[in-house]
Amino acid sequence: MRILVIGANGRLGRACVASLSANSHSVIALVRDAANFPPTLSDRCAAVIEADARNKDEIASALRDHRCDGVVQAGGYTPFWVWQTSNLPLVFAATLDAAEAVARERGDGVILPDKRIRAWMICDLGMMDSPWDDKLLWHYLPPMFPIHRTTFPTLAERPTEAVAWSVMCPAMMQPSDHKVAAYETEFGGPTVPNWRDTFLWIPLLGKYINAFFMGWAYMTTTYDRVANFLAEDFNRGLDSPIVGQKVGPGRVAGGKAFWF
Ligand SMILES: NC(=O)c1ccc[n+]([C@@H]2O[C@H](COP(=O)([O-])OP(=O)(O)OC[C@H]3O[C@@H](n4cnc5c(N)ncnc54)[C@H](OP(=O)(O)O)[C@@H]3O)[C@@H](O)[C@H]2O)c1
Repeated sequence: MRILVIGANGRLGRACVASLSANSHSVIALVRDAANFPPTLSDRCAAVIEADARNKDEIASALRDHRCDGVVQAGGYTPFWVWQTSNLPLVFAATLDAAEAVARERGDGVILPDKRIRAWMICDLGMMDSPWDDKLLWHYLPPMFPIHRTTFPTLAERPTEAVAWSVMCPAMMQPSDHKVAAYETEFGGPTVPNWRDTFLWIPLLGKYINAFFMGWAYMTTTYDRVANFLAEDFNRGLDSPIVGQKVGPGRVAGGKAFWF
């Protein structure tokens, strides 16, 4: 596929450029400042373009001009605290709006199923389903990186007939030389794969402590593993069975956590 990587100069974006190109996809890197993009990655791209990912028209031009049929949305600023402002809702909406608009153009005003853009959006672990009830996991987590609670609902509103989206919901991601790389990762959804109820015995706070430790110790993975998963799924194009679904990393069944 021809895939636009938004935020290609970020940590996950760089890993996506490497994995997508290694999987024989043609990569168009969207960055804010091409001068800061490493030449080693630039050499692996069909094009490197400078654009503002908050701008729907600039993303649509990139998709149109480079005949992209896929997009990874790894750009934007994710603040830690609830009172910090973020451009992520704008970047999210601009990506989905542009993907929908370009698909509509390609179908002369209607969106044909095989002309849709395949989109991988990124949120975080809080958007996975709780294993205990019909809440999302963030109900049991501290209010860290809360912006995804704003961006995620915009996906649910977007029919997959308009944009063939999926959403990756990782906890922490680390470089491949980090010790978490020693622990195998599996991807699945809508709940965290191989969830463990380790701390439920703690009165009142058990679910909250369990959710936090699952994110910290069982869901932490590497940028490369997430990027590889996306690249391999792009190999399936619009036929991917996980269109419209959320996916998160977890330890393989029986796998140990790196923490305890
Ligand atoms: N890192 C983690 O452990 C983790 C965990 C869970 C979820 N996530 C999510 O994964 C996504 C990627 O994370 P990351 O760690 O790779 O982020 P990152 O390293 O901060 O990269 C974000 C990239 O977005 C670019 N960007 C920001 N605003 C932009 C704009 N208006 N137009 C174009 N590009 C823009 C930045 O460009 P510049 O290079 O010019 O600054 C940067 O390259 C985020 O949504 C994050 O919330 C990350």
